[in-house]
Amino acid sequence: EKAGFDHFMLKEIHEQPKAYRDTLSSRIDASGTRVVLDEVKMSQDDIRSIQQVHIVACGTAYHAGLVGKGIIEKLARIPVETDVASEYRYRSPIITPNTLVMVVSQSGETADTLAALREAKRCGARVVAITNVVGSSVAREADDVITTWAGPEIAVASTKAYTSQLVAFYLFGLYLAQTLGTQEAGYIADVIAELKRLPEKVERILEQADTIKNWAEQVATHNNLFFIGRGLDYAVALEGSLKLKEISYIHSEAYAAGELKHGTLALIEEGIPVIALATQEELLEKTVSNIKEVKARGAHVFGLNAEGETELVKTVDEVFAIPHTLQLLSPALSVVPLQLLAYYASLARGNDVDKPRNLAKSVTVE
Ligand code: F6R
Repeated sequence: EKAGFDHFMLKEIHEQPKAYRDTLSSRIDASGTRVVLDEVKMSQDDIRSIQQVHIVACGTAYHAGLVGKGIIEKLARIPVETDVASEYRYRSPIITPNTLVMVVSQSGETADTLAALREAKRCGARVVAITNVVGSSVAREADDVITTWAGPEIAVASTKAYTSQLVAFYLFGLYLAQTLGTQEAGYIADVIAELKRLPEKVERILEQADTIKNWAEQVATHNNLFFIGRGLDYAVALEGSLKLKEISYIHSEAYAAGELKHGTLALIEEGIPVIALATQEELLEKTVSNIKEVKARGAHVFGLNAEGETELVKTVDEVFAIPHTLQLLSPALSVVPLQLLAYYASLARGNDVDKPRNLAKSVTVE
């Protein structure tokens, strides 16, 4: 049932190209230039009336929602807030009939996410769900459902569900942009063309797993490390850090690279590993200057950049290039080496990769 892989997690990491294809297929028109989301029943007026979007989820799905914020704000120019469901429920969020609430849940059964959905509906908001389980509670109670076709996810650590959630956000963001006219048709077609190239690019990353395995073996000898990045790289850093904590039990923290010097830099000492994400070209120069700050204090920096970029290698100790894509799409690739890093670090520490201590796959208690 593990199809020749040692663990479900590794199998599921390798299923991501297929999950990308399945989640995209039938949602792009024959000309390859427009998104078709028949499952979303919003009228043009419904879409035009959206004044704000709230994305609500837990854990890894929350991290997908942080990328979702970047995607929707960029493509549709609508303000988005992303909240952890257990916080959202109790902070009296300002939900109006012009608020679109999006809940994201692999299982569709997470108690806090479901309660947030119910609260949003009670306040008169329309709810769009992104979920991987057809017929789940979240799917049944939402107004519209965008199903991620990742297939069953068995490993407790979520991988292909997260990346499929990103695809759902790209599709939905493009769908809003088409209706609102916030992006040129040519740009929308370019994003779609790049989305279709993701599966093959993930394959190329997976072929270089040995490099990441080597990083993991170095990281596994430490008890503390940092992930840093800016913009979408920061959102991915949060997910990379969670994955590593969850299955390797190594403590790590993800930091917005520019924020380090406001206190946390005090923790950087000789030899500490820092995983630096620098895939966002526009922010590269700023990220490089933050990398220099940690290097100057003795950090050992593992950098992720985009293929063809030549600056980062001058600053970091080790570098891994992700295949080139649009900046907006880079999270869909850059998270893959971080999933592998967590996997191999967990193995190196002799942990039970698929069933980490203290955790359950579906959290149906509040
Ligand atoms: C981490 C992980 C969890 C889940 C979270 C939400 O790898 O899997 O953080 O993402 O418990 O679960 P769902 O998406 O089922 O609502």
